Amino acid sequence: MLDVILKRRSIRQYEDKPVEPEVVREVLLAAMCAPSAYHKNPWSFVLVEKEEIRERLSRATNFASFSKKAPIIIVITADSQSSPHWIEDSSIVGAHIYLEAVNQGLGTCWVQVYNMETPDGTNSEEYVRSVLGIPETERVLCMMPLGYPAEHPAGHSEASFKKDKVHTDRW
Ligand SMILES: Cc1cc2nc3c(=O)[nH]c(=O)nc-3n(C[C@H](O)[C@H](O)[C@H](O)COP(=O)(O)O)c2cc1C
Repeated sequence: MLDVILKRRSIRQYEDKPVEPEVVREVLLAAMCAPSAYHKNPWSFVLVEKEEIRERLSRATNFASFSKKAPIIIVITADSQSSPHWIEDSSIVGAHIYLEAVNQGLGTCWVQVYNMETPDGTNSEEYVRSVLGIPETERVLCMMPLGYPAEHPAGHSEASFKKDKVHTDRW
């Protein structure tokens, strides 16, 4: 497991090659096995493959433009009425997607939507909701463009271990 964790980087360039449906399913299975508070599993996913819709999503924030180059974008939403811990639950889901992507030889990158604005100042969640027809009751945490990597940044290493970040028994 640590090998996958060390290898994981945020990937923003993708090969022009679709991700097989059975592979997407395994990534989603990994996502759906994430722990959630009170086991509420408040999240849902919108899979976006159509180029025209990916293009619109890539305008959701100032940091999303690369999304359109991925063959598929997984949008993570959550029903905030069903759990006050929807952000935590959905974030762990995102971490599972990051790691299973690496395990499958894929790359992804978290694109923040919650608490963001479009370049012209519209709330990014509202923008994504309107592009995808997501109900008002759903919050939109992030998007995860997914594809075969066309960039291969060095992975993490033992150097990521920061002794000064760790306090034992007392701060
Ligand atoms: C909550 C969160 C929001 C992020 N938002 C974006 C984003 O909007 N666009 C982007 O390109 N990367 C985004 N990232 C990816 C980070 O930039 C990236 O994880 C960080 O630079 C460390 O690099 P690494 O993932 O390759 O280790 C986000 C990551 C997290 C956890």
